[in-house]
Amino acid sequence: MEITEVLVQSVDKPLGTGGHPYFSWKIISEEKNTLQQNYRLTVTTQDGHVCMDTGVVSSRKNAYVPYSGEPLNSRTAYTVMLEVTDNHGETATAVSFFETGLLHREDWQSNWIIAEKKRKKAQPGFGKQFPSTLFRQSFPVKSGLKQARLHATAHGVYELYINGAPADERCFAPEHTVYGKYLCVQTYDVTKLLAAGSNAIGFHVGDGWYFSPNAKPNMKTDNQHAVLYQLELLYENGERQLVSSGEDAQTSEGPVVSADLYAGELYDAAREIRDWSKSTCREGQWTPAKVKTYGYDNLVPQCGDRVIAVERFPVKDVLRSPRGECILDFGQNLAGRVRITMPLKEGQRLRLEHCEVLDREGNYYNNIMSAGGVGKGCDQTDEYISDGADVSYEPHFTYHGFRYARLTVDGKAPETVDPAWFTAVLLSSEKKDVGSFSCSDEALNRLYRNIRYSQASNMLSIPTDCPQREKAGWTGDMLVYARTAMLNEDCTVLFSRWLENMSKEQDRYGIVPMVVPENGAYPMTGKLMNLMAGAKGKATSSGWGDAAVIVPYSMYEVTGNTEVLKRQYYCMRRWCDYIIRQAKTEKPKDCKRPDEIEQYLWDTGYHYGEWLVPSQSKNGLDTKNLKKIMAESSCYTAPIFGWYSVSTFAHISRILSEEDPTQALYATDAPKYAMIADKMKEAIQKGVIGSDGSMPSTLMGAYVLPLYFDLVPEAHKKRFADDLVRSIETNDFCLDTGFLATPFLLDALCKIGQEDLAYRLLWQTKAPSWLSEVEAGGTTIWENCFGYDEAGNPGTLSFNHYAFGSVADWIYRNVNGIAPAEAGFGKVIIAPKLDGKLTSASRTFDSVNGEIASDWHIEERNGAKHFCMQVKIPCNCEATVILPSGKTDSVGSGVYSYEDEI
Ligand code: BGC
Repeated sequence: MEITEVLVQSVDKPLGTGGHPYFSWKIISEEKNTLQQNYRLTVTTQDGHVCMDTGVVSSRKNAYVPYSGEPLNSRTAYTVMLEVTDNHGETATAVSFFETGLLHREDWQSNWIIAEKKRKKAQPGFGKQFPSTLFRQSFPVKSGLKQARLHATAHGVYELYINGAPADERCFAPEHTVYGKYLCVQTYDVTKLLAAGSNAIGFHVGDGWYFSPNAKPNMKTDNQHAVLYQLELLYENGERQLVSSGEDAQTSEGPVVSADLYAGELYDAAREIRDWSKSTCREGQWTPAKVKTYGYDNLVPQCGDRVIAVERFPVKDVLRSPRGECILDFGQNLAGRVRITMPLKEGQRLRLEHCEVLDREGNYYNNIMSAGGVGKGCDQTDEYISDGADVSYEPHFTYHGFRYARLTVDGKAPETVDPAWFTAVLLSSEKKDVGSFSCSDEALNRLYRNIRYSQASNMLSIPTDCPQREKAGWTGDMLVYARTAMLNEDCTVLFSRWLENMSKEQDRYGIVPMVVPENGAYPMTGKLMNLMAGAKGKATSSGWGDAAVIVPYSMYEVTGNTEVLKRQYYCMRRWCDYIIRQAKTEKPKDCKRPDEIEQYLWDTGYHYGEWLVPSQSKNGLDTKNLKKIMAESSCYTAPIFGWYSVSTFAHISRILSEEDPTQALYATDAPKYAMIADKMKEAIQKGVIGSDGSMPSTLMGAYVLPLYFDLVPEAHKKRFADDLVRSIETNDFCLDTGFLATPFLLDALCKIGQEDLAYRLLWQTKAPSWLSEVEAGGTTIWENCFGYDEAGNPGTLSFNHYAFGSVADWIYRNVNGIAPAEAGFGKVIIAPKLDGKLTSASRTFDSVNGEIASDWHIEERNGAKHFCMQVKIPCNCEATVILPSGKTDSVGSGVYSYEDEI
């Protein structure tokens, strides 16, 4: 038995951790049926002082074990020692390491600095922002350097350069957060980039989210790019040296003339200052930096999940459109930008305008410009002005959602284009890929890839709704997709940070806003919505604010992570209290329900309802009708999602009180919230579901949600099942659920014994359906199943929204049959459900215990069909394998082959 992958805060040997890390590891063994029996974890300083020693803990827990020792010090390296004994009596040990960042405000001996020159306020749209800022500082390094750590952050987004070269491949540091309360600090190991003698450090700073007129963080800014950095050098002889941001730094304008995350970037190569981040720099007009007192209270160390280039796509085709445009087709819709090496003459302007789809004739088409007010300024345009030198350019401070880019040079389509001049770069937060899927059906394989690409495109610093229009952390989108996301990539670090930011945005009523970090573009709309609904506080909606409970719970379901449940506990609790209070104190104007029912129904305020139910959004979202459309489904989504949050929270309190019986709060909360959830359920059964078993709406989702969540009284189950089946039949076996009901649709069908119908929906190729997007050539998941109208014209909604991709979770549990029997996949059920169409399917999932795999195919031998399956179970995991004939086997870790006649 061996220990592998000892991670600290989900990262291998991280630098710059916070003061409360957690530990995870895996064990592997040749021996079958291996389980961890006990572990002992110690954390020591480099000189051997023991800061934490768990002693021998008899437990199978091998992930998210919290640090529980004496307080950790700043900028200190710690050794992690782990000893594990398995159930066969074998013992293994492993050693790892982590280093803390700056944990206290007193650790900062540097000043925030800005450029002297006043900047104006950026406006939305291409070319309407102001130049980037360069900060540079030279400093001497003596010989005998042992270690150099740089801690840095900025107002805006920065790129770090040392001695003339980029010091890190990351983009958009310091990330998208609730800046006033939570600003990330990155820690870099720059030891190898420095040499004895004269050195220099440089920061190239652009607007990012901080100053974006579209992202509009909810706070006042003075429009000045700012940086804060502290370079800490340690010499072999123990001597320390500090290089701090302060008046010694110089500033200048950068080569980016104008840049915005939504609008695009205008870059003038003639403005580049040669060797600007070298100590030998002699060019440019530099002015001393000005010190500011922005403070240190909001600084939070960040480790892991940098935004980086995760894949590159060459040009698939250079297209000439009927309008005579030159359009580069990269063959894949994605979030990112284009790297350009096209030779240009001095003064020539190369322009790329990015878009996701072409119009029916094959011309450039910007599908986001007319999507209400939210598309304003989303020009997705980059322009490069050449200085005559070789071009090697990738935009610095923008990214786009695109598959195509219209190319012009000096306003004209160039006659000859070498495809090798352009590469599309997919940007995403760095996460571990934990899943794979393939099967005998190419359309389903493409659907899987579309889901993965929509996920990759929308996990850039925060989970976003779409990469081309809003780039916003819409909470509801993540609520419906979180479980699927975690089955594809380990999003723990990204989601944990986003959830911490959610807590920061929660208002005094306990309200979790629709978007995290809040975006100035929405509170106004939000205020209006509240006004219409007569609600107080920040604008929210059922199914969106509920992300406060459901996202951490989904993370727990996939990885057994109780740490995130503890860290988010108060945020969840306050959100549930808000729902409970709203239900109790508010009632609709003409409400006739008796008080004992009404007080447990969340049925007032503003709600999006299911959102984007295909039959409702078929012809775009008519703002005039929006209120009516939403009301049609919010009459059931609000009470049901309210109950969903409160009952899940009660369950979470129970899980935590079992894990830590000393915490009285968990123990008292569990029965208290369970009782309220029961009352809410009863209220739904008596106040939403009619006494004859009817629902207040005949939308598909109205039957899906109560069936999936076991909210239907026994007497009405048959009617609900019939109504759901009928709603599908009358809809020509196409999808008609919105964001909130789609993740539960196929499961609800399985629950009522309609597996065949579930597969029929999955295989449907007519719109609206999942495969209709594949048939239409989609390479990502669309916001609206009707991406194109009947005449073939693309609509104005996004072609890269992950919400409907939540179907992958069902596919993994049914096609491949891998379903957790307990949170974290310590126990699993492997039971593929054959549909008569697929002849093979393979899935791997790298759980917190290691890789679980199910790989099956159907073989014809002597006129009989055989189902052959290989299953892989990692250590610390137990599986129940159920074959199509119903034969069952219980196994522990190991690789097993099965055959079954079908
Ligand atoms: C976003 C969504 C979001 C929705 C709220 C849209 O504009 O793109 O995905 O959840 O608004 O209804």
